[in-house]
Parts: sequence; C-alpha cells; structure tokens
Amino acid sequence: MKFQEIKNNIYYCGLNDCDRRIFDELIPLEHGTSYNSYLVKGSEKTAIIDTMYPPKTKEYLKRLVDNQVGKVDYIIANHGEQDHSGSIPALLEKYPNAIVITNPKCAENIKSMLHVPDEKIRVIADGEEVSLGDKTLKFIFAPGVHWPDTMFTYIKEDNVLCTCDFLGAHYTFSDVFAVESKELEKSAKRYYAEIMMPFRMMCKKYTQMIKDMHVDVILPSHGPVYTNPDYILDLYADWTADAPKNLVTMPYVSMYNSTKEMIEYLSNKLEENGIQTFKFDIVDDDLGDLAMSLVDAATIVMGTSMVLAGPHPMAVNVAYLAAVLRPKAKFGALIGSYGWGGNLFGKIGELLAPLKLDLIEPLQVKGKPKEEDFKKLDEIAQAIYEKHKSLNLV
Ligand code: FEO
Repeated sequence: MKFQEIKNNIYYCGLNDCDRRIFDELIPLEHGTSYNSYLVKGSEKTAIIDTMYPPKTKEYLKRLVDNQVGKVDYIIANHGEQDHSGSIPALLEKYPNAIVITNPKCAENIKSMLHVPDEKIRVIADGEEVSLGDKTLKFIFAPGVHWPDTMFTYIKEDNVLCTCDFLGAHYTFSDVFAVESKELEKSAKRYYAEIMMPFRMMCKKYTQMIKDMHVDVILPSHGPVYTNPDYILDLYADWTADAPKNLVTMPYVSMYNSTKEMIEYLSNKLEENGIQTFKFDIVDDDLGDLAMSLVDAATIVMGTSMVLAGPHPMAVNVAYLAAVLRPKAKFGALIGSYGWGGNLFGKIGELLAPLKLDLIEPLQVKGKPKEEDFKKLDEIAQAIYEKHKSLNLV
C-alpha cells in the first residue's frame, strides 16, 4: 500500500495490527493497534523515525521496498522498546549505510536488547539537531513518558513533533489522520490508563511543554496522527489534572453474591447522594474499563470474598494492578464476606498502601449481610460523601 503523506515529504510508513487483542499481555485492545513509523525525506538525507514490532518486520520491509525507499541515512530510535525498535537490526541489514541516531539510554537498550553494534549508533545530546538538508531534526529528551530512554523528535521546518509512545492510542485506521470521536477518545484514555498513568506528573509536564510549542501536527508511535493537537492535549490535561472526579470505582469478586450485594447496596446509596459509581466485576469485566475509571476516581472501594483464609486471589491481583497504575484516588474502603474465618483485608491493604489512601473503617461480614451490616454500609456511604464534599466534588 502506498505511503500516506502527512506533510511536505513526511510520510506514514507504519502498519496496523488489527488482530492484536491484548497489549503487554495485560489490557485487552478493542481496536487492535498500529506501530507507527515515519519516513522523512530531506533534500540531502532521508530518515526513518521509529521502526516496527518484530513479528511485522517482513511486512514492513516489503512496504518500504514497494514504496521505493532506495536509501535510508538515519534511523531515529525514540525509545528502545521492541514494538518500535525491534526491526532496527533488519533495517540495518537492508540499508547498510544507515546509522541509528538515539539518546544515551536508548543506545544502551538497543545494544543490550537487540544487539545493535556500537559502530552503527550515533548518540546525540538533548536539544541536538541533525540536518537532512532542507529539514532539521531536533531531539528532545522526555524521560518518564514512559521509559527512561524516551525522546521526542521535532521536525523544525514543518513544526511537526513525533512524541513516541506519549499521546498515543491503541487504534487502527485506513486514513492516518485522527477523526475525533468518542471511540478514539476511549482508546486514547485506555492507553493512557495502562501505560502513562503511572507517570502522571511527567505526562502533565510534557503536555504543557507541547502546548507551549504550538506544533502543527503530533505524530505518536501508536494510533492516528493529530492535525488538531489541542484535541489530544486537552484530553491529557484533563486526565493528568491533580483533582479527582466525583467517582467511586468499585472492583469486586463475589463467590456467593454476599459481597456483590454489599457492593450494589453501597453503590445505590452513593448514587442517591449524587456520587457516580463504577461497579467492576473482577472475574467477567474488561480490565481496561477498570483502568480507565481509575484515571478519574476519587475513591476506590474494593469488595472481596474469602478464599482459604485470605482475600480472593483475583481481588489481590486487582489491588496489585491498582497500585502499579498509581491513580490519583484519595480515599478507599474495603468490604467483603467470609465463611469460616481468616484475614480478609490484610493482603489487600498491604498492596494498596503505596497509594496512601485515606481509608474508611472496613466492613467484613460472615456470610450474607444482615440489617446491622446494611447500617454500616450506610455509614460508609456517608463517610465517602463527607470525604468527597471535603474536596468540593459534591
Ligand atoms: Fe509502544 Fe513503549 O512502546
């Protein structure tokens, strides 16, 4: 298929992966993903910015040949992760005169992970520029969105910024230019939640930096290209804001419906008080939806059944995931039901500790909840209401 021109001799030469159903073996993908690669033809030199996911290398090289890419002078590695750098060795074989341009940390990564030889790498400094003739590439180090080796490449004369994984989306397309829609917004948020949220403060910093650059086009490494940069930058400004929203996320696992009954009762009480809730069945629901709700939630209420004297392993898994995603939630509560005894919340509390949640008195119930337990759930609902009110959320 013919390369799509983005602007003035800058072409999209990446590939869609419509069949991919999960990323990082963790979060399901609703729309597959794309591995973006960009060809920049200057008057003297030609550069490729980011390459390809290894299983797609053959198809990628064929695409370059089909589009008569006869020479490549520079391969720009914005980041060492293999979905973008994995095809560098094959590309160097195909274009033996090419050299890889990257930052010191990424150079170490591609040398050790992909065995790219030292003599094929040119290491640049933050802010350094490389001329392609009538185009100049400027490299901007952006550690933390999301690896320490991440950098952006700015094509100065065209006011175009390649943002690596930052501002991306797991999304496929026939036309590379973003069509603003609820579906795209959802995919970008799901991607932010899984990949970028643990680095929220860095994301906030680079969102503002790019806003201040007033670029014309944003070229991320996954998902469509943004010719209206404010669309994705405004979404990021919202997701990375310090203040949470008036939302309680409620992941639960329930073996005999008692914990589920407690979650549903508490959810109804909260909704009656004007607080939005998101109930998440840990066994059946999509982890991406949970991650997205954690982008905004002020409170996390976890519900679990007891298995062998401890919390249900599926609840432990979600508590661990919530902790590594580092959401901005401020408050928490633990509720659940047990059969013959044990420690229902100890492990979950331990896993959630890094979030430093202000925890409300937990509630554990033997078997089915009784009238007195529902009264305690009323108290938890009231406590959450007061906490949200303290942040002016209700
Ligand atoms: Fe899309 Fe960090 O690789």
